Amino acid sequence: TDTINFSYRLIDWYGSHKRELPWRNTSDPYIIWLSEIILQQTRVQQGLPYFNRFIDSYPTVNDLAKAPEQEVLRLWQGLGYYSRARNLHACAKIVVEEFGGRFPSNYKELLRLKGVGKYTAAAIASFAFREKVPVIDGNVYRVLSRIFGIKEDILGAKAYSTFYKVASELISDDRPDTFNQAIMEFGALHCTPNSPACDSCPFNSMCYAFAHKQQNALPVKQKK
Ligand code: ADE
Repeated sequence: TDTINFSYRLIDWYGSHKRELPWRNTSDPYIIWLSEIILQQTRVQQGLPYFNRFIDSYPTVNDLAKAPEQEVLRLWQGLGYYSRARNLHACAKIVVEEFGGRFPSNYKELLRLKGVGKYTAAAIASFAFREKVPVIDGNVYRVLSRIFGIKEDILGAKAYSTFYKVASELISDDRPDTFNQAIMEFGALHCTPNSPACDSCPFNSMCYAFAHKQQNALPVKQKK
């Protein structure tokens, strides 16, 4: 069926189009957590040098926890949203002091960490521990709403659970981590907000938005 095919085609596309990014070659939850916090409101190209400096300065969560807050804030300078840097540092201390320096190893426990919301918990659980839990971000909203014709308002209260349910049915059983990286990468590089590359899209024969010329109408973002 289309849904089984979706996961195969997506992972296949990813294999030949993905960018080499340092946080993708590891299953260390600390490295994955750090990358996801940096990338929350920041583009990959802007976040990459910050990520590298943080990993050089603090190779482990213990190193980050021990660092003076002023030093952490200085390394963060230029990324904005300084509450993220303070949360980052506070979370590192909690992992060290309350979890013995080891990140919790599943989605539900990860959600208890400071500054770790549903997206970040799902990213760490799947990339580090291969838990079969979907990541839902703006890329995922765009890709799924277009291909499957989902007209839920992505700014509405139900959006997350609607797309979480759809993604849960699509996510690969044996490669949930690769599926999650792949769907975000597909949204970032191919199914872009403006001028998506529909003519060379592996899903164009099954895409609702392509068939109905609704690429610009999906995802639905109700005006505030
Ligand atoms: N943006 C947020 N998380 C990402 C990831 N894991 N890879 C690439 N871009 C991202």
